Amino acid sequence: MVKATMTFPSDFRWGTATAAYQVEGSNTNSDWWLWEQAEGHILENQKSGLASNWWENAEADLDAAAAMGTNAHRLSLEWSRIEPQPSVFDNKALDRYRQILQAMRDRGIEPMVTLHHFSNPIWLTEKGDFNTRLVVDYFQRFTAKVVDTLGDLIPKWVTINEPMVYIIMRYLNGRFPEPQQKGWGAAFKATRNLLRCHAAAYQTIKERYPQAEVGIAKNMTILEPKADRFLNRWWARRASWIYNEAWWEMLVDGRFHRPFGRGIVDGLADSFDFIGINYYTRVYLKFPPRGRLWEEEWGPDAVVSDGNYGEVYPAGLFQVIKSVLKYDKPIYITENGLPDVEDRLRPSFLITHLREIWRAISFCFPVMGYYHWSLVDNFEWDRGWTQRFGLIELNPETQERKLRESGRLYGEICRSGSVSSDMTVQYAPELIDTIFPGKTPDLPRNKA
Ligand code: FCB
Repeated sequence: MVKATMTFPSDFRWGTATAAYQVEGSNTNSDWWLWEQAEGHILENQKSGLASNWWENAEADLDAAAAMGTNAHRLSLEWSRIEPQPSVFDNKALDRYRQILQAMRDRGIEPMVTLHHFSNPIWLTEKGDFNTRLVVDYFQRFTAKVVDTLGDLIPKWVTINEPMVYIIMRYLNGRFPEPQQKGWGAAFKATRNLLRCHAAAYQTIKERYPQAEVGIAKNMTILEPKADRFLNRWWARRASWIYNEAWWEMLVDGRFHRPFGRGIVDGLADSFDFIGINYYTRVYLKFPPRGRLWEEEWGPDAVVSDGNYGEVYPAGLFQVIKSVLKYDKPIYITENGLPDVEDRLRPSFLITHLREIWRAISFCFPVMGYYHWSLVDNFEWDRGWTQRFGLIELNPETQERKLRESGRLYGEICRSGSVSSDMTVQYAPELIDTIFPGKTPDLPRNKA
């Protein structure tokens, strides 16, 4: 082993991420609240309840985030709180968001705000949500209200979180609240309306705050062929284009690409100031897909996180960063994390993933920040409380909190702006020979 330090740029954003529905609690006007009440929708029929109690006391976790030394946090606003009935805006809810955003700024934590993170007002679902063009006007109106009341506090915006995940979970596999129409046709229609919503929101924010940085948070997953066969390879490439790249291409060109549709969208061309990447895992594909989009099986050496959530595959983070360099925009890792209730893997997960970012930065790739998912355990959608992503452990019944070892490590990383061999020895000693071996790799020799 050698003693060494991977140092990050001094203006790097060291962040964490959450979403409104997952942390706030009692979001009774949201489609998720309704969905939770019926049996069989959430694992073990769990309920979000008070969630992580952010509506009452986000400040407690923000104090912890500040003590950790983070300087950024990504959070979302719950549309159903701000506009509980069509065109009826709740000023008290907006005041509370103002307070939370101000609390962040007072603690030296820069907010990145997501406008749509998987949840809708119940009234919107009743009106057909993303299957009706009306949603674009509704979303634009909601965005305008937010920008007018809170925009002065928000330098960074995400319009839509993980549109592709949302489409799959909601319109194709039924794991998210049921829309009025389902299936491929509905999925493509919803995709087009999500993109129209993004374009409208982008323009609305930029008109009022030209300096604001606005983008989307795109789940980027490594898709590989299950066995090295021609059709599997072809399908993996095709699926990766549809799942990952097509979205950036549509945002660049300002038009729909097949299979999502055809036609130009007003305001969509070049409607992003940064690339937001949510990176979690890699999956394997087989052709024909037979019902499931991907195989939930991993290679023989794969390290897999709780509940068979996914393979821990740090190299994939470097790969996805590389894949978006051609767009020539700043890159933020807007989510990255794993479910790990025992904190068995998280310390090494942090070190190995941050090493990939450090490597990318050392090639002058413009990665400007990292937002770990998540600051605190929270309600994990259809998996309820069974999956724990927090740097802070939470008992949702008592609301007691405890900083995990990984939280302590992330604190050391954020405060020093670096990942060192000393930290690795302390928090993930099993990694030391891989990350800080101090050996020169054997190079191929010339034959004598
Ligand atoms: C992402 C979601 C986020 C959380 C993490 C684990 O897909 O954006 O809300 O559920 O996964």
